[in-house]
Amino acid sequence: MLTNSRRGVRAVALSTVFVGGLAAFAAAAQPQAEVLHYWTSGGEAKAAAALKADFEANGGKWTDNAVAGGAGDAAMTVLRSRVLSGDPPAAAQIKGPNIQDWAKQGALGNLNKVAAAENWDKVLPPQITSIMKYNGNYVAAPVNIHRIDWFWANPAVLAKVGATAAPKTWDEFNALAEKLKAAGITPLAHGGQAWQDATIFETVVMGLNGAAFFKKAFVDLDDATLRSADMNKVFDQMRKIRGFVDKDFPGREWNAATQMVMNGTAAMQIMGDWAKGEFLAAGKVPGKDFLCAPVPTQGGYLMNVDSFAMFNVKGDDKLAGQLLLAKLIVGEKFQETFNVYKGSIPARLGVPMDKFDSCAVKSSDDLKASITAGTLVPSMAHEMATNGAVRGAILDVVTQHFNGSMSSADASKKLADAVKLAK
Ligand code: GAL
Repeated sequence: MLTNSRRGVRAVALSTVFVGGLAAFAAAAQPQAEVLHYWTSGGEAKAAAALKADFEANGGKWTDNAVAGGAGDAAMTVLRSRVLSGDPPAAAQIKGPNIQDWAKQGALGNLNKVAAAENWDKVLPPQITSIMKYNGNYVAAPVNIHRIDWFWANPAVLAKVGATAAPKTWDEFNALAEKLKAAGITPLAHGGQAWQDATIFETVVMGLNGAAFFKKAFVDLDDATLRSADMNKVFDQMRKIRGFVDKDFPGREWNAATQMVMNGTAAMQIMGDWAKGEFLAAGKVPGKDFLCAPVPTQGGYLMNVDSFAMFNVKGDDKLAGQLLLAKLIVGEKFQETFNVYKGSIPARLGVPMDKFDSCAVKSSDDLKASITAGTLVPSMAHEMATNGAVRGAILDVVTQHFNGSMSSADASKKLADAVKLAK
C-alpha cells in the first residue's frame, strides 16, 4: 500500500502527466461526452449528478442521456438502436458479459492509456479488472460494487409483531411474514417486474442451495442443476413469497417498493443496495429509520458492478471526454462521493471507509469474507453472470412462475429448456 506522502507525490506526478496529455486535447477541443445511463430514481440521480459535476469541474461538457427503467433493460434497447444506427453515445452504462459482447463486435474504445496512467491494474481488484478487459485491453471503467442480497426493513413495523431484527434463515423469514400478514401488515414490499422477481429468486437460490449450486446453475448453465429437485425447492419458496406481497405489486417500480418500507406500509424489501440510496436521499438513518441485513445466502455475496464502456466515436473532443470520464470514474475522491450517494461501495481498493455507513462497512467486510470463502457470485438478475439472451430466458420463466400457478417441477423444467434454447 502506498504511504500518504509517496501517494501524494505520485498523484501530482500522474495528474501532471495526464493533464499534460489532456491539455493537448483541451487545446484542440473541450472534452465532451454524451452519457447513456439509467440512474433516474432519487438516490441514483444524486449519484449520477456527482459524476456530471466532477466531469464539468474538470472542464468537460456533459450531455445527459438518462433512460428510466430499473436494471437498465430499457436503456439497453436504446443503446442497441443507437449503435445499429451508427450513432453510439460516447459512454454507456453496461456491465458484466455485455461488455465482452460489445467488445467482441468491435464497438468499444480502448482505455489502456488512462488505465496505465492511473494504475488501474494496481488500484482495482482482479475480480473487477477481469470484467473490464477484453483480450487484455481495458474497455470499461468500473464505478462501484453493489450487493444484491439485502433485506431493507422498517424496525418500527417489525416491532409491531415483536421482531427486533431481519430474519436470518428462510424459515425464520416465512414465520415472520406469516405473523406480519396475520397482523394485517404487508410483509414484503415488491415491484412486479421480471428483474425484481429475479432479484428475489437469485437470493433464494443462494440461500437454499449455496454458491456452488448458484455457479453451476447460472454461470455454467448446467442443465441437470437447472432442472434439479433442489431448483424445485427454490420455486417452492418463491410460491410462498408470492403470498407475502400486496395485491398492487404488479408493475410497481423498485423505488416505490422502497418507499413502502420507508413509510411503514410494508415491513421489508429484498433489493440491491441502491435501495439504501433512496433511504439516504430521504434523510433516513441506517439502524434507526431502517435496518439493512444480508438475506440468508449461506455466507454468500451477490455482486453487481456498474461500469461505463466508451463506444467508438469520432472527434478529439469526444475522445478527450471519454478519457477524462474514465479517469474520473476510478479516481479515489469520486469513488467515495459517488458510492456514498449510490448505496454501493467503491470498486477501487483502499478508499477510506470513514464516510460510509454501517451497511456499507458490512458490505465491504462480507465481500472480503466471501472472496476468502469462495461464496462470491456474479448476479444473474443484474447481468453479471450471463449474456442478455440467457438472462432474458431465465427472467421470463421466473416471472411467469411468480405470476401464475405453474408447479415448481414444471418451472424448473421450463427454466432448463429455456436456457438450453438461449445459450
Ligand atoms: C441495477 C444497477 C444499479 C441500479 C439498479 C436499479 O442493475 O446496477 O446501479 O440502477 O439496477 O435500477
